[in-house]
Amino acid sequence: MSQPDLLSRFPRVRLIAGPTPIQRLDRLEQLLGDRRAGVSIWAKRDDFMELGGGGNKLRKLEFLVGQAKSEGCDTVIAIGGVQSNFARLAAAACAKTGLACELVLAQMVPRDSSIYQGNGNVLLDRLFGARVHILAKGEDASKFATDRASEITAAGRKAFMATLGGSTPTGCLGYVDCAFEIALQSAELGLDFDQIIIPNGSGGMHAGLAAGMVVAGKDPSRIRAYTVLSAENASLLATVDKTNVVLALLSKSERVGPKDLEISGTQLGDGYGAPTPDMVEAVAIVGRSEGLLLDPVYGGKAFAGLLSDIQNGTISPGTNVLFVMTGGSPGLYAYADALNSN
Ligand SMILES: Cc1ncc(COP(=O)(O)O)c(C=O)c1O
Repeated sequence: MSQPDLLSRFPRVRLIAGPTPIQRLDRLEQLLGDRRAGVSIWAKRDDFMELGGGGNKLRKLEFLVGQAKSEGCDTVIAIGGVQSNFARLAAAACAKTGLACELVLAQMVPRDSSIYQGNGNVLLDRLFGARVHILAKGEDASKFATDRASEITAAGRKAFMATLGGSTPTGCLGYVDCAFEIALQSAELGLDFDQIIIPNGSGGMHAGLAAGMVVAGKDPSRIRAYTVLSAENASLLATVDKTNVVLALLSKSERVGPKDLEISGTQLGDGYGAPTPDMVEAVAIVGRSEGLLLDPVYGGKAFAGLLSDIQNGTISPGTNVLFVMTGGSPGLYAYADALNSN
């Protein structure tokens, strides 16, 4: 069975037009000068998609909305943090595919400024027509969402529950596909990327990419992830489990263990959504050299990890590195206070 055929049996709606580009960041390389130690830095532009401002969650939503439609659901209930990119893109995907959308947004980050609570992703959620439920601190998002689903059922409709980050095994299939896409583009470019750099939040992107690489016969430890949500070991164990569940969903017999995946906890700082000076610097460097936007919660921290690991030699001099730009730039507006200090 060919690699794309492997995914064809899963219901899917198309939200992305085609492969996202891979571009060399040559202006950034120039700006870094000796700091880049001869490393070639490329970007996979998963922030460059036509729907809802784009971002990695659209890949998951192609399969999640596909599943919702195949189950006859008319409403998607998505759970996330207040500035969830997944929630924003779920709202956009529902608008595009004619589903109702309800967002249950929990207080996952201790930031109560009006820009954090009302600008950035939340502003766009409402513009995309979603019904937004912003919970109070400590309120149980799963319970709230389950109660809403029961009310929707009682009204004769059917809700599909999309839990945190869309990182169910079905959602992860979007990044299995991305692994195949990267393999094809690498062959076209005549390049073998030594490292693929990503942030790891709920771990679905990492698990999907890792499973896709295993299926494609490539070493998943080439993916170097920086956790932005859980502690290093917890993130590793959860991502190993997720990868194996995705492999099982694909009816593959291969399995991975903790030694097969690379996750670094060096960029977590004070935890999920907490800005770090290195993140602020990374966002500024990429903006000034390439005119590209990283986000403050995921890509900014992962890029800070990339720069730091080039400098300390963890990423070997002279290698080819692919940084997956995952979108999330609306979050910049919610962090204006942290970013303006630079
Ligand atoms: C912009 C962005 N990048 C990366 C991630 C991390 O993806 P995952 O949750 O699958 O680890 C997220 C998750 O919300 C995101 O919004």
